[in-house]
Amino acid sequence: MALSPQWLDELKSRITLSTLIQRDVKLQRAGREWKACCPFHNEATPSFYVNDQKGFYHCFGCQAHGSAIDWMIEQRGLQFIDAVKELAAEAGMDVPAPDPRAAERAEKRASLHDVMEAAQNWFVARLASDEGVGARQYLERRGLSQRMIEHFGFGYAPDDKTSLKKALSQFDETMLVEAGLLIEVEDKIPYSRFRGRVMLPIQDARARVIAFGGRILEDRDGVAKYLNSPDTPLFDKGRNLYNLHRAGPASRKSERVIAVEGYMDVVALAQAGFEDAVAPMGTALTEHQVELLWRMADKPVLCFDGDAAGKRAAMRAASRTLPLLRPGYSLQIVQLPAGLDPDDLIKQQGAEAMEQLLGNTKSLLDLIWEHEKDAQPLNSPEDKAGLKARLMDHVDTIEHPDIKSLYRRELLDRYGAFAFPPKEFKRGGFQRGAAFGRPQIERASPEVVGQLRRAAGGAFRDQLTQAVLHGFLRYPREIHRHADALLSLSKSDKRLAETVDFLLDNAQALEAGRELPISPSKVLPPPPDKARFSFLSEGSDPGVAREELAEAVSLLVEKPAIDAAIAAATKRFDTDPEGAFAEQQRLRKRKLEIETRLGHMARKRAAAQAEANLSPGESVSTAGEQETD
Ligand code: UTP
Ligand code: MN
Repeated sequence: MALSPQWLDELKSRITLSTLIQRDVKLQRAGREWKACCPFHNEATPSFYVNDQKGFYHCFGCQAHGSAIDWMIEQRGLQFIDAVKELAAEAGMDVPAPDPRAAERAEKRASLHDVMEAAQNWFVARLASDEGVGARQYLERRGLSQRMIEHFGFGYAPDDKTSLKKALSQFDETMLVEAGLLIEVEDKIPYSRFRGRVMLPIQDARARVIAFGGRILEDRDGVAKYLNSPDTPLFDKGRNLYNLHRAGPASRKSERVIAVEGYMDVVALAQAGFEDAVAPMGTALTEHQVELLWRMADKPVLCFDGDAAGKRAAMRAASRTLPLLRPGYSLQIVQLPAGLDPDDLIKQQGAEAMEQLLGNTKSLLDLIWEHEKDAQPLNSPEDKAGLKARLMDHVDTIEHPDIKSLYRRELLDRYGAFAFPPKEFKRGGFQRGAAFGRPQIERASPEVVGQLRRAAGGAFRDQLTQAVLHGFLRYPREIHRHADALLSLSKSDKRLAETVDFLLDNAQALEAGRELPISPSKVLPPPPDKARFSFLSEGSDPGVAREELAEAVSLLVEKPAIDAAIAAATKRFDTDPEGAFAEQQRLRKRKLEIETRLGHMARKRAAAQAEANLSPGESVSTAGEQETD
């Protein structure tokens, strides 16, 4: 860190200038100041003044003027940094670890740029020379035009260990090592890193060469196709993107940026007319790279191979991006046909095929949904709880509150429709018997209703339960979405079974506003204080109401479901230890969150209750408060 002006001001303010100067010059009081004959010029009467408040000295005779630091430099003849150190010692301040190397580093960077430029020119010349014939043929075989070869600055690194060093002998060997062009192993003589490879310069946003990627000419098993420069003072893999300096201007015109996985994909895309493409350097996209992409376009298009590895890479990128999401910015995903990268696709099917894929992107939310939905079969309530937990895990990583709640809402909608498709309701009721081991009850009989009402004192004590059940009456479309929650509610509390049945059986009729076989007031507990729940109040925003209803449901019932799912995962340990462990961890995390939220809601409700009790005449539910947990 360099010394900041603030730090220097603090230092000066701690030094009493007159005390400092007194050590060398005898000062006399002159009102609020001090005076002396000027030490900087010869004089007989004092015109040198020291002002402690303002922290400077001034000579009216010779115009000498300065601070304590200047005094140490001008009068004592110290270097700036030594003056600072001495004063700091006196003032009891630590000098911030000075960065004597900062300037040196800047200078070194400048000269490393010279090294890289020289290397680039040399690689290009080698490609054009006799020794570059194999590399030229290789590029030709790959269908690269001469124009593209020049445009992207392809070169060739000869297959030997010393020629680069000789060719760049104007630079110190240590600099060639630092630039990543030579490898230094222990006490061996440094030798060329890139040998017998087609060279691709990697440039920064200002088009300066900062690194290289080198490709072998013939693919061989067990040999890495590409070798890249190591991280150097010029090059930080995670903070750069290949082709950034060309894609930047192009993307301003196209209002799009495409991120692909390989160097050669970028090149092939450019040759096919897509100049707004970039690639990371063989690693998963970093946060920095996502931010770089967002500087170019609001919704960068990420292309991934359609195979399993490509899908994993897409999910990695998604996970990295969720916490960073902000309004108006997202990602779009293109999944290529399995086994084809953009280069292959363009070669086999032409630029139109690529254009078509780019016009048919998936949203980030689509990607997450499809990935999690397909991750495991959905055969049991435990599977369903697992899917829901995985989806909510993603949601939880989103930091922006609005985006987070929109994702939660949308993913829960999709989850509900998928895990409990409406067709199950159409055939005169939900197939609960088979799935949940409970006999199907046709319709609530008057006796049952009576029992229910008697039980209401106990079973419906909890206001939250009451509120949720009435919430579904108001928002019957939500019943399907939360069918699993309702069923587990009735499982954990048998007395609620009839109410749940009623809601599930009559969801469609309620939604359509049709007449019901039995009045809800017969099956449902009396409604709680409506004002406390947005989903029971008149005039609430329906979106918010639905969201809060979902929250209340998950508070009520998700916890027992998660407990069951954890138990199921524990049983799976023998057969699938890794999967079971991961699932357990996820579920435990979710459980912890729910417990925390239950705590919050309990406190909020207690506070609301206390307030209500203090204001007479306000209608408060008759039921005694009791926490759900
Ligand atoms: P690919 O193998 O998909 O690259 O790896 P590509 O560009 O399609 O390769 P070819 O030339 O057509 O066969 C994607 C990226 O991963 C990095 C490179 O940045 C490459 O472009 N990579 C790959 C390496 O760094 N080393 C490797 O050995 C392989
Ligand atoms: Mn390729």
